[in-house]
Amino acid sequence: MRLASRQYRYLQALGIEVYREREPQDRGGSLKGTDLKSVPGDTPDTSVVAVSHNAEAEGIAADPAGKVVLDWEALQREVAGCRLCPLHEGRTQTVFGVGDVNADWMLIGEAPGAEEDRRGEPFVGRAGKLLDSMLRALGLDRQQVFIANILKCRPPNNRDPRPEEILACENYLNQQINTVKPRLILALGRVAAQNLLKTETPIGKMRGKRFHYGDPPIPVVVTYHPAYLLRSPREKRKSWQDLQLAMNIYNEQT
Ligand code: URA
Repeated sequence: MRLASRQYRYLQALGIEVYREREPQDRGGSLKGTDLKSVPGDTPDTSVVAVSHNAEAEGIAADPAGKVVLDWEALQREVAGCRLCPLHEGRTQTVFGVGDVNADWMLIGEAPGAEEDRRGEPFVGRAGKLLDSMLRALGLDRQQVFIANILKCRPPNNRDPRPEEILACENYLNQQINTVKPRLILALGRVAAQNLLKTETPIGKMRGKRFHYGDPPIPVVVTYHPAYLLRSPREKRKSWQDLQLAMNIYNEQT
């Protein structure tokens, strides 16, 4: 992957060490090249809902498996009013997701934090700023992708999502993915990766590989959660490698 100098500056700002090939005029002189050579991680039933007479007007349909499928605005309304798990009691608002409903890239995180709960948008805290920089290093911004979370409501004190909360929210995320139909999904962190891919494999064993979600299969790449990268900046190098893998897989399809 060829890196423009703007991307190079983003990577430097992220603290990611980038080795660049020397330009011919630089051989024997200072390093000023432009090519990257290598770069230094009580269960509610949400699936069956009767479809009302007014279903079409309400944006509701049923897929062949009998699951209710809502159009985008109906889905947003449904999420905003969701009371399927106890997390609705503590939320300021739901965090549906942000970006382009026709995006080629979909990024999936864990759950809203305090700032996201306050603003109603995913990844707007410190981890979100890092995520924005990672996207910019790929030549993308958050308006071009779609960013969502496994959970739409903030768990108290930022604890891990519970299995019953994940199950309650699962149908919303599946419908988001089926509507956006991204060409690539980037799973951010263990909770997103394990729940999306229905596995208990540790994240360290999942990153750097290609997985698939759904049918027709959408490629999935797993990388570390930006909040983890803030705590462990040395892992940013691996995360950048994951992003490059994602970009390569994406480019293969276009
Ligand atoms: N962490 C997440 O996983 N999602 C957010 O929206 C914010 C922080």
